[in-house]
Amino acid sequence: MNQFLFIGGKGGVGKTTMATTAAIQRAMAGERTLVVSSDPAHSTSDLFAQSIGDEPTPIDGYDRLDAIEIDPDAAVENHLRETKRALTDQVSPAIVNAIEPQLKLAHDSAGAYEAALFDRVIDILQTAETYDRVVFDTAPTGGTLRLLALPDALELWIDRLLEKRTRSIDLFESAAIGDRTPRRTMSDDPIVQRLQERKDRFEFAARTLRTETSFYLVVTPDELSIRETQRASDRLAANELGVDGLIVNKLTPKPDESERGAGAAFLRSRRATERERLETIKSIGPPIVATVQSQREPPAGDQLEELAPTLTFE
Ligand SMILES: Nc1ncnc2c1ncn2[C@@H]1O[C@H](COP(=O)(O)OP(=O)(O)OP(=O)(O)O)[C@@H](O)[C@H]1O
Ligand SMILES: [Mg+2]
Repeated sequence: MNQFLFIGGKGGVGKTTMATTAAIQRAMAGERTLVVSSDPAHSTSDLFAQSIGDEPTPIDGYDRLDAIEIDPDAAVENHLRETKRALTDQVSPAIVNAIEPQLKLAHDSAGAYEAALFDRVIDILQTAETYDRVVFDTAPTGGTLRLLALPDALELWIDRLLEKRTRSIDLFESAAIGDRTPRRTMSDDPIVQRLQERKDRFEFAARTLRTETSFYLVVTPDELSIRETQRASDRLAANELGVDGLIVNKLTPKPDESERGAGAAFLRSRRATERERLETIKSIGPPIVATVQSQREPPAGDQLEELAPTLTFE
């Protein structure tokens, strides 16, 4: 198992429940563990019945378990502030003010939300050395995966930019013979530096996700979830990220043999359908690392500790 675990899957399949369960399991195995959620509904704090902040918060009742709930709106705000700060270093405040409406608009787009979230995830990846294990309760989505291809695109862009700037500085120099100033400003050009920084950051993320991360997808035995899992698995593979395992959640429990009522007949029929669907799930490829039944109550607290041993990540 790698240092970083990502638990993905369609909406409502049980990502938060399973990520939290996985984190409890690792902490109870003696590993210093961090669980990271980006769920705006703050369901991780609900599961632990305590408030959790945007920075590592120790979880009551565990010696080695911290949690973070990323606030996606705050992440977008920070991103906007940081972009403005970086711009202020490079151009006049008048220009920053003039383009502020465009900046705001860009940060209101759907892609910005994902980009800001991914930025925060990269921060956590970079500062996670105090943890043996970090469990993220979401896998990268389509937009985030596209960001992984960004280092290559940025490389081309930076090269072209450097070429253009070299050419313009050469022209400037042939006009002002003897004045070497432009050549000196070239190497610490703030725009090029900033682009280089971004590129290094995405490169780090792409490398970490490919070499130090395990991906698990939660799937429920219904057609929509199975199809989505197939798609997510293909999409991850296309980005050189393999899925390490599937967690099948919300399987119908077995009625007692002696039960003869309509309820028992319903459960038996559902279970027959689910057996077929399990075959389809197996054919997706990655191994099934856990099968979890639908519980009577939404699992929380002690129930998560009971579920913890059923997840087999190795
Ligand atoms: N095995 C289970 N038995 C019964 N209820 C479950 C089980 N797993 C999850 N649930 C319930 O299903 C609901 C969705 O679970 P959860 O919040 O973990 O899913 P999620 O994938 O994180 O959802 P979202 O996409 O909204 O973040 C919750 O009410 C949770 O308590
Ligand atoms: Mg969730």
